[in-house]
Amino acid sequence: MPQIRPYRPADRDQLARICLLTAAEGGDATGVYSDDALMPEVFALPYVEYAPELAFVVAEGDRVLGYVIGVADTAAFVEWWKREWAPGFAARHPSPGAATGRDPRFTEAQLIEAGTAPERMLIDELDRYPAHLHIDLLPELQGQGFGRRLIDTLRAALAAQGVPAVHLGMDAANTGARAFYNRLGFHELPSSSQSSPLLGIATGETAGVSE
Ligand SMILES: CC(C)(COP(=O)(O)OP(=O)(O)OC[C@H]1O[C@@H](n2cnc3c(N)ncnc32)[C@H](O)[C@@H]1OP(=O)(O)O)[C@@H](O)C(=O)NCCC(=O)NCCS
Repeated sequence: MPQIRPYRPADRDQLARICLLTAAEGGDATGVYSDDALMPEVFALPYVEYAPELAFVVAEGDRVLGYVIGVADTAAFVEWWKREWAPGFAARHPSPGAATGRDPRFTEAQLIEAGTAPERMLIDELDRYPAHLHIDLLPELQGQGFGRRLIDTLRAALAAQGVPAVHLGMDAANTGARAFYNRLGFHELPSSSQSSPLLGIATGETAGVSE
């Protein structure tokens, strides 16, 4: 039976792979970009480097099947990213590779921009929703309640740090994920748009954010 447990450094490669396998509207993004490392280097690996204590996985033995990752203070994360993550990222990805012919949410140039200029994460609502998260489960784990339990686990960890609320940005085309977030009680934030939904939720009953 798969179990939720805190992230360990040994999970890093499996976490990166799950990110890639779920990055195209929730499906496999292998080969969408000239370098399969791009997606995890923007949407997964910086998180576990910066805040491993806010990363939780679902694992069966040594096999990782899903994760939730987050940061408590997005503005501080952006500063860290500029200082610690962007230089190495820029050196590894100096320019976009050849087009692959796939039609992704972001062009490769946009993804490289996202890796080097993290200011895109400074949304207007950061004062009330300072934390943000990403969640991804392999298809074999989906639909069994683990997504809900992972979100609950992260919300509790954030609440324990005194963080009032958490947000996320998502791909509008990922209708399954949108149904999931709606079911869990996430709501749209004011700067949400049809093409780039921005959703938020309080971290706990007693966190002091009225919704
Ligand atoms: C989206 C995702 C995290 C949801 O996790 P999950 O474990 O499959 O969802 P759960 O089983 O915990 O479902 C929780 C609730 O949401 C509902 N739900 C989940 N997926 C749904 C879907 N596609 N359509 C309608 N409802 C859905 C469930 O019915 C359930 O309701 P209940 O608790 O009242 O019974 C997971 O499917 C996933 O990782 N998908 C691929 C990657 C992805 O899209 N990540 C999000 C990027 S923004």
